[in-house]
Amino acid sequence: MSRKFLIAGNWKMNKTTDEALDLAREIHAEVGAQGNVQVVVCPPYTSLAEVSGELESSQVAVGSQNMHHEPSGAYTGEISAEMLRQSFISFVILGHSERRQFFGETNESVNLKILAAVANNLKPIYCIGETLEQREAGQTLEVVRTQMSVGLANFPSDQVDNLVIAYEPVWAIGTGKTATDEMAQEVHADVRAALQEQFGEDAANGVRILYGGSMKPENATGLLSQPDVDGGLIGGASLTSRAFCGIVQAAIDHGS
Ligand code: PGA
Repeated sequence: MSRKFLIAGNWKMNKTTDEALDLAREIHAEVGAQGNVQVVVCPPYTSLAEVSGELESSQVAVGSQNMHHEPSGAYTGEISAEMLRQSFISFVILGHSERRQFFGETNESVNLKILAAVANNLKPIYCIGETLEQREAGQTLEVVRTQMSVGLANFPSDQVDNLVIAYEPVWAIGTGKTATDEMAQEVHADVRAALQEQFGEDAANGVRILYGGSMKPENATGLLSQPDVDGGLIGGASLTSRAFCGIVQAAIDHGS
C-alpha cells in the first residue's frame, strides 16, 4: 500500500507570533502549493490561530504540540481538543518525550489524550521511543511495544486512518545523533507489526510512521528510503524554511 509522506515541523517553545507568521509565509511560498507530500507545522499555542489563518489557502496543515484530555474545566494553563478544532487545527503531537521527561506524562495519561483527540476529529501524532539507557540495555523493542499497547489502548478501529506514529529515539532528539537508516527501519517495522496485531494488516499498512530525532536535509533521503519510514517529525531543522523545505523536497524527490 502506498502511504503519502508526512513531514511535520515541531517548533517547540520557539517563535513569537511575528516570527511564526514569517516562517509560515516562507513555507507557504516554497512548498505550500504542492500536494505530493503532506506538510504540517506545529507552532506554540500563542500563534496557532494566526498561523492557521495564514496557511488557510495552502496545502500546509497546522498541528498543536499538546492538549488536555478533558473537554473543559478547572485545568489552569491547559487547552482542550475542542478549542484546537475551533482554531482549524487538524493534528496534535501527543506524548512527545519532552512532555514525558519534564511534565510527567505517561503512557496512561497520553492514552487519554489520544482518545480525546480522535473523538474530536484531531489526528494524533503519537510519539514513542527509547532512551539511550534502554537502547544500551537491549530494551528498545520492549519499551516501544509497551508505549504502543498502553498508549493505544481502546483506540477505535474506525479511526486508524487518522493515526500517525512518530518513532523518536530520545537520544537522537536535539543531539545531532541520528538513528542509522537500519536502526530506524527495525523499530518502524516492529511498530507496524504491533499495529497489525491490534488493527489488522490492511489498517496497519495505511498508518504513517514518522521518524524523529536530528532529521535534516542531509540525512532525510536515506531515512525516507526505508520501507516503513513514512515521513519525519522535525524539531531543530523545522525552525528555518531552508532546512525544513529541504526535507520536504527530499520527500517529494523520493516519492512515496
Ligand atoms: P530534533 O527534534 O529534530 O531537533 O531532534 C525532533 C523532535 O523533538 O520532534
